[in-house]
Amino acid sequence: MQDPHWWRQAAVYQIYPRSFADSNGDGIGDLRGITSRIPYLKSLGIDAVWLSPFYPSALADGGYDVDDYRDVDPKLGTLADFDEMIAALHQAGIKLIADIVPNHTSDRHAWFQEALASQKGSAARDRYIFRDGKGPDGDEPPSDWDSVFGGPAWERTEDGQWYLHIFAREQPDLNWDNREVRDDFLKTLRFWSDRGVDGFRVDVAHALTKDMTEPLPSKAELGPEGENNNGQHPFWDRDEVHEVFAEWREVFDEYTPPRTAVAEAWVHTDRRARYASPEGLGQAFNFDLLRADWNPGQFRDIITKNLTEAASSGASSTWVFSNHDVVRHATRYGFPLAGSESTPTETARDWLMSGGTEPDLDHELGERRARAVTQLMLALPGSAYLYQGEELGLHEVAEIIDEDRQDPTFFRNTGVDVGRDGCRVPLPWTKAGESFGFGIGGSHLPQPAWFSDYAVQVQESDSHSHLSFYRRALKLRRELQGDEDFEWIEERSPEVLHFTRLGGWHCVTNFSSGPVDLPAGRVVVLSSSPLVDGRLPSNTTAWLA
Ligand code: GLC
Ligand code: CA
Repeated sequence: MQDPHWWRQAAVYQIYPRSFADSNGDGIGDLRGITSRIPYLKSLGIDAVWLSPFYPSALADGGYDVDDYRDVDPKLGTLADFDEMIAALHQAGIKLIADIVPNHTSDRHAWFQEALASQKGSAARDRYIFRDGKGPDGDEPPSDWDSVFGGPAWERTEDGQWYLHIFAREQPDLNWDNREVRDDFLKTLRFWSDRGVDGFRVDVAHALTKDMTEPLPSKAELGPEGENNNGQHPFWDRDEVHEVFAEWREVFDEYTPPRTAVAEAWVHTDRRARYASPEGLGQAFNFDLLRADWNPGQFRDIITKNLTEAASSGASSTWVFSNHDVVRHATRYGFPLAGSESTPTETARDWLMSGGTEPDLDHELGERRARAVTQLMLALPGSAYLYQGEELGLHEVAEIIDEDRQDPTFFRNTGVDVGRDGCRVPLPWTKAGESFGFGIGGSHLPQPAWFSDYAVQVQESDSHSHLSFYRRALKLRRELQGDEDFEWIEERSPEVLHFTRLGGWHCVTNFSSGPVDLPAGRVVVLSSSPLVDGRLPSNTTAWLA
């Protein structure tokens, strides 16, 4: 229990709380719902839960607009419910990673309300990024920057000043040069750590510190997010951000075992190690596999590069195929087009945007490949991050009518981007009944009829189901996992990826279109689809021991 390295090779399951399980029938998933499903989490075989924001919020951005960092959203429960949930998780041997959102508050946060009610130049405004506008009446924004969700990154307030919001207008950016802001977050980290939280997932960690020296550069002069800006971009990936995380590390290290953290930082691969250093957050997401095509060369390069990089920072690598921001991976890999120039994510987005309907999708191929890549991921050294519903092989829900959509990406880009609601639809637990067992009072995002076939109840009674496969894979992973060693084994065909871990655990994935032979003299302990005449069929991964 006290192992300080527990996170290095953990299987972490992300819960998007509003869509997991609803205990009181108001259509919104909640903390008691999670507590009631802990036996399910335990049977899945995960090591930790990453809980997406559960703080009071108007849900302008699915909870990533936080009104109060040290409380629970009344729609989700109370602090007492939180304490009960974490105690029950720990009892079941499952850690809890809380999502923390330091780049911006919500516009309902007491600080922002105070800033609006205060004078220009006041201490209350200095906690955020307020500026006068340009033009004779100051009615043009301070710069032409776009927000990540589309539309301008500046919003005008009643007295004529503008504030910066890199995301939605309900998410004003904090000023991390302000000591009070820094201290308040240290207080928040202690607040949750004292309540037993084992680690933190740090939302947009690469945006906190900003250089707002005038004149502000125009957007044409800015490099895009994620490019190698060498710390020169006014808000993405500045070097000073690591001073913030060094202070956080001191707080994490006050606890036994030290609290952990994983950075969400969409930065150039070469700069990721800074976030993952032991003096900083300790670990950082890489979204490289999540963007990979069904292409063995890409997989191989990504794996090699990330393992090398993790070794250089002292962190372990992270792997992820799905989360609450992207089209589900069973769907991404269900496009026969995947393999063309564009990544599966782009292909899937294009399909969604063009009003794509579910029949266009090759469901079976998508699920089969999703199992194959997941099994490959689970054999890699490092932590595997799983997203609720992927264990069921769920696909993206394409058919959501405009009136039901919730994501600000949709509202700020009408007709251009349908947004992320399709991966956030409440889970199906039972084959039939109200909201497929999610709750007794409907579901805040509508569930499609086909969810019935994917329900937990249906899959639990089928030993060949996606869920049964995940359970077996996670259980075996625990048994087979040793140190973080890794070695590629060369195969005759570049379409076959084969690697081994020191203990003699082999993982072979067949990306080619026909069956291949498996290495002789070993026993197949798991395959993502059935073997054919003892051979590994296409779109399949096998583990041998
Ligand atoms: C992160 C979250 C995303 C959210 C954004 C703004 O990227 O994963 O869901 O919209 O930050 O907080
Ligand atoms: Ca509820």
